[in-house]
Amino acid sequence: MSPDSENQPSVEADLAAMRVGYAVQGSNPPVPESNLSAEALVGGWLPLLRRWLDQARNAGVAEPNAMVLATVDEAGRPASRTVLCKGLSEDGLVFYTNYGSNKARQLAAAPYASATFAWTAFAHQVTVRGPVERVAPEVTDAYWRTRPRGSQLGAWASAQSRPIDSRAALDDRLAETAARFAGVDEVPTPPEWGGFLIRPETVEFWQGRANRMHNRVLVTRVADGWSAERLQP
Ligand SMILES: Cc1cc2nc3c(=O)[nH]c(=O)nc-3n(C[C@H](O)[C@H](O)[C@H](O)COP(=O)(O)O)c2cc1C
Repeated sequence: MSPDSENQPSVEADLAAMRVGYAVQGSNPPVPESNLSAEALVGGWLPLLRRWLDQARNAGVAEPNAMVLATVDEAGRPASRTVLCKGLSEDGLVFYTNYGSNKARQLAAAPYASATFAWTAFAHQVTVRGPVERVAPEVTDAYWRTRPRGSQLGAWASAQSRPIDSRAALDDRLAETAARFAGVDEVPTPPEWGGFLIRPETVEFWQGRANRMHNRVLVTRVADGWSAERLQP
């Protein structure tokens, strides 16, 4: 793991100079420091995550429910991609995907994930880690019915993560799918599509502060609820 001295990346001046000195963020009301205290979070992670999500949504942040989902592949190597959080409760966080996709195959073999929200406009980050399971088919069906028809047809047409020869071939698959369901009012849920629930074991809240002295509070599931501790930035 020592550096390969022959083959090192150069430092790009533009990127190196990009830096934000976090203070209280803009005109949006900051979440009071007291909300981020370890004592406040002993009651659990859900209220503050909701609050930060609502704050981002109310400020017009694009896709505020987007989270980067990390899984582990067959070789034990990390893999990550963005998904949308479509359910949030004491049980955990739900996202929907294709059950034949790379992420779903990885989760079948190693049912554990890490998901990170980053609302950089607020200098807020939340990382949730825990075991993952499929949601019940009724839960998937209830969400499926809320999806626009175009998204439903797209889910039927795409064998997510598997190769296809061309864009034209993909467009043909959508056209075939649209024709197949032309007379069908309610497109059924594809058998290969559904939700996953991440059941949080740890939730870390990060709030940027001046001089890189950020706030970090790690909330951990314990036998009778949640414990919380402050971490150094
Ligand atoms: C903002 C954003 C939201 C996304 N939401 C989802 C989602 O909810 N479900 C999903 O399967 N893919 C979603 N994607 C696409 C994934 O990032 C990814 O490309 C796809 O799921 C295939 O990943 P995989 O091959 O690792 O399984 C989203 C991408 C972006 C940029």
